[in-house]
Parts: sequence; structure tokens; C-alpha cells
Amino acid sequence: MTSLLSISPLCLTIVIALSLTCLDGTRAFAFAPTQQYTSFTRHNHKYTSFTQINASAEDEISTSESSNGNMPVKTRTPKVSNRSKSVSSFKVMDILRRANELQQAGHSVIHCEVGQPESGAPSTVAAAAVESLSSRNVMGYTDAFGLLPLREKISQHYRKKYDLDDESVHVKKIVVTTGSSGGFLLAFTACFDVGDTVAVASSGYPCYRNILGALDVNLTNVKINDEFKLTAKELKAEIMFRRENNLKEINGLILSSPSNPTGAMLSPEELKGLCELCDEEGIQFLSDEIYHGISYGKKEASALTYSSNVIVLNSFSKYYSSK
Ligand SMILES: Cc1ncc(COP(=O)(O)O)c(C=O)c1O
Repeated sequence: MTSLLSISPLCLTIVIALSLTCLDGTRAFAFAPTQQYTSFTRHNHKYTSFTQINASAEDEISTSESSNGNMPVKTRTPKVSNRSKSVSSFKVMDILRRANELQQAGHSVIHCEVGQPESGAPSTVAAAAVESLSSRNVMGYTDAFGLLPLREKISQHYRKKYDLDDESVHVKKIVVTTGSSGGFLLAFTACFDVGDTVAVASSGYPCYRNILGALDVNLTNVKINDEFKLTAKELKAEIMFRRENNLKEINGLILSSPSNPTGAMLSPEELKGLCELCDEEGIQFLSDEIYHGISYGKKEASALTYSSNVIVLNSFSKYYSSK
């Protein structure tokens, strides 16, 4: 859904661009500003319908043409969900798109927008992908949770790296998704209902807000401390503040450590304290461990070490490259 939401504005841009091209030379068209309205115009013996939906921010225009020269049947454009209109774009992707446009136009661009390794996928991984795609074996559907051998390797990696027991990272608990962003959506829908409250660090990775907002989950910003960290102390203060002010209880917490954007990483003791507080308070902790491996010699801990209730999210997008 994340990708759908981020793709939609682009599709609309394309639709608008096409409409403007089609409009050239037409005789008449009409838009009603406050409601959905469709009118038709004739151009080169073809009828084109123009539909404007009264969207909150930008107007969305779509066109359709009849191929046989007959008056097309009047249609009503399906509604666009309020949810999709209320989600703002993920700014880093807007900047990336613009940078790519400039690059394509011949400008020299130094990319600092998205966090990703400088080098490509490890050569063994690239070779395995080529082999798999070019072999005559039909790849087909995998289990809904992903290829079993891959999940076994992930389980093995977590057991070895964090010294975890078999049960805490049993293969049946591992789900492979297209990026951790797909994982967030699945995890959020599995954990939270409309109107629930989820705590996020202020500052934190902005995309959590977009996805939680799209699901009508409320956010509470927890102030980070002087070391740019959200620890049990800061979360406890927020819990107490909400209780004293009769605000709704916090249902979840999502936090990346090391953090995007600050780089701050919780020590194993701080992570333990946070896990324990979440367990005491019945708060679902989602631990984003995507930047593990990029900790410049500092000891990393996984939330799985301290709680069996946590959901850990990780990804191949950051650390894993040819180096
Ligand atoms: C903290 C954090 N979590 C998740 C993601 C998204 O990762 P993915 O590419 O796996 O969807 C990013 C991307 O920058 C990130 O910074």
C-alpha cells in the first residue's frame, strides 16, 4: 500500500498531462468546481469525456474517449478515498524524483536523498538472481510468508548474531516482504485499529507517520533527549502526561535504532529498559533494526533479546552490499 500511495500522485500527474494534450483543439468543456461533473466534447469525430473530481487539494482530471464516434455512455468516476487524499507525500521521494529528472536532463547531480549503500548487491547475490531468473524452473508463487530457505537463513543469522534461541526467531515467525516498508504496513494492520495511538520519536523516520496516518492511527510525538534518544524515561514521561490529561493510552511504539535521521543508537541496557516498559504497559513495540551493521563499532542489541512480544523489522536495503 505504501508503494501504491506513493505511486498514485505520479499517476495523477500523468493523467493530467494526457488530458491537457487531448484538450488541444477541442470545442468546449465544462467543470463544476464543487462536485463531480462530467461533460463531453467532440474533436476529430471522437467524443472525449472530462471528469473533474472535487478533491480537497488538487483537482484530478481524467479523460476517456469513445473509439467508434458514438456518444459515450455517461460514467461517474469512482470516488477517491479521503484516506488517500489526506496522506502527504514522502518528501524524500519527491526530491529523488526531481533529482532524477535533472540528471536525465543532463545535469550533474550528487545524490544525498535516500540512504543506500554506495555499492551494488554482493556478486554472489547478483549471480544467484541471474541464475534463478534464467533457469527454466518456473519460479511461481512462494509461501505467503516467503521462500522457506530464505527464512531459514534469516533465522540462522539472527540466532548467530544476537545469540538468540531457536524459539524467539523460529522460521514460522519470519515474514519476507518487499522492503521493510511493506513490512510496516502488514505489522501496523496486524497490531493497530483505527483510532489507536502509536508513539513515535520526534525526530524519527518520517514514513512511519505517512503509513500510520493512512491507517487512521493517531500519533503521539515523544521528545528525544539530549543524546537524541527515546529511552524508557522519555516514554514513561509521555505515558504519565497522557494519564494526567485523560488522553488515550498508548497502544504502540515504533522506533529505529540506530535512528534515522539522528544516527543515535540505544545501548543494550537502554533497549532492555524500553522493552520492559512496553511489556509492563501492554505497548506493542516495533523495533526497526534496519541500520544494524552500520554502528561504527558500537555493540548492537536486538529487541528480541529482551522481549518475546516485540516485532522486529529489518531489510536488505541498507547494510547489505558488495563490500
Ligand atoms: C529507519 C528506516 N526504516 C525503514 C526504511 C525503509 O526501508 P526499505 O527500503 O526496506 O523499505 C528506511 C529507509 O530509508 C529507514 O531509514
